[in-house]
Amino acid sequence: MSNEKIDRATLTFGDRSVELPVVTGTEGECALDISHLREKTKLVTLDPGLGNTASCFSKITYIDGERGILRYRGIPIEKLVEKVMFIDVAYLLVHGVLPTEEERHNFSQLLNFNSLMHEDMRHFFDLFPHDAHPMHILSTMINAMAAFYPNVDSKSLVENIDQATARVISIVRTMAAFVYKKSIGEPVVYPRHDLSYCANFLNMMFDSPVKPYQIRPETVRLLNILFILHADHEQNCSTTAVRVIGSAQVNLYATISAGISALSGPLHGGANQAVIEMLRTIQEDGDVDKFIKMAKDKSNPFRLMGFGHRVYKIYDPRASIIRRECEQYLKTIHYSDPLLDVAHRIEEAALKDPYFIDHHLYPNVDFYSGILYRAMGIPENMFTAMFALARLPGWVAHWQEMIGSQTKITRPRQVYVGKPLQTSDVFASKNPLLI
Ligand code: SDX
Repeated sequence: MSNEKIDRATLTFGDRSVELPVVTGTEGECALDISHLREKTKLVTLDPGLGNTASCFSKITYIDGERGILRYRGIPIEKLVEKVMFIDVAYLLVHGVLPTEEERHNFSQLLNFNSLMHEDMRHFFDLFPHDAHPMHILSTMINAMAAFYPNVDSKSLVENIDQATARVISIVRTMAAFVYKKSIGEPVVYPRHDLSYCANFLNMMFDSPVKPYQIRPETVRLLNILFILHADHEQNCSTTAVRVIGSAQVNLYATISAGISALSGPLHGGANQAVIEMLRTIQEDGDVDKFIKMAKDKSNPFRLMGFGHRVYKIYDPRASIIRRECEQYLKTIHYSDPLLDVAHRIEEAALKDPYFIDHHLYPNVDFYSGILYRAMGIPENMFTAMFALARLPGWVAHWQEMIGSQTKITRPRQVYVGKPLQTSDVFASKNPLLI
């Protein structure tokens, strides 16, 4: 294929043809711009699941699924996990650059000043059953933030983006820890001004008036790495939900609540909890090959959770880092998890199986993350909440980018395949309407 830049394509159908622009991204990816297709041809495009459709221009995250590349604002995740902490990445995603010392100090102050949840919101916890799933509680409470905090939407961004970002990622972190404490009947632990973002979360989760929590630097380091790896992933399902809901000019909290709901699905962020449940089932059964066979059997609904990805067609680069950190952390804290052995056996069997190779199915971000959360003492029903906490800055960054570039509400078309106009008297056989 020649290197000349192609900037248009011709679409021919019947005796007609129309020229359409072709746009090219930073990394050379090309897109057919169909934003005026219907106007020019009365045609619409059909793409269930939107696997072939770019919904927007974005400068936030770049993924190359064939080469296993993931960059936030052009910086590879492999560098970010080595060099900076989660709040630096949150700032990077929203602002497009890493913070200077001063910017980092100010952002850190904002996170601290916004770490307390409105005290009246604590009554929400009394209304949920003690075993309600944390994702259901979080999506409800985040939506309710609109009643307690100044409105932040595309029209009235009444405070600067840092204030809005800090409020979302700091209060929701406190909320998540409170959800856990309430679920085990323990008193909530308030955020502390002298702790970093991740250390504060761990302390709010595990400190207790009768048993002080020892904050281990290796655990804080690991949580920063996990949060960085989960912080954004371009136009995934939950981020698309945030962009779609946000396009109706609803407030930021409602859009984040929509993201939380989308992420909770087992095909999406809910997979990290589903992986552990799957590994435990396989461990109890003992026959890995049986489950590999079931995953390949189209008549069986069983799928290998934590495997496969809409975009990555090789090993998810996040999974490689998480797997490495998992082995290192368990050694450091002298902890062994039989489920890690099961995970290794599953991976080994799948990676040499023609079905998984031909279908490009490899471990994704969720395959090993649950094992790390278990080692940190995080309960399984909080795993997806951990994913949500990490994804908050990514959602805010995409919401901000969307309101800055898209003034129209997102409203796709369809291909109607239902009944034609019903001419016979469809009401004839029905009971006459009660007058
Ligand atoms: C996340 O999009 C993102 O970026 C998401 C995410 C993020 O950071 O936001 O990366 C986070 O959600 C990761 C994915 C977590 N979900 C899981 O681990 C659930 C298990 N995986 C699958 O359900 C599936 O792989 C998806 C949902 C992840 C991707 O599904 P696709 O792209 O719609 O692929 P598909 O369902 O069309 O499958 C293609 C083929 C099918 O076989 P054929 O009918 O073509 O013969 O691959 C098969 C599928 O049956 N397949 C699997 C499989 N995943 C796909 N077979 C067995 N086990 C699996 N896990």
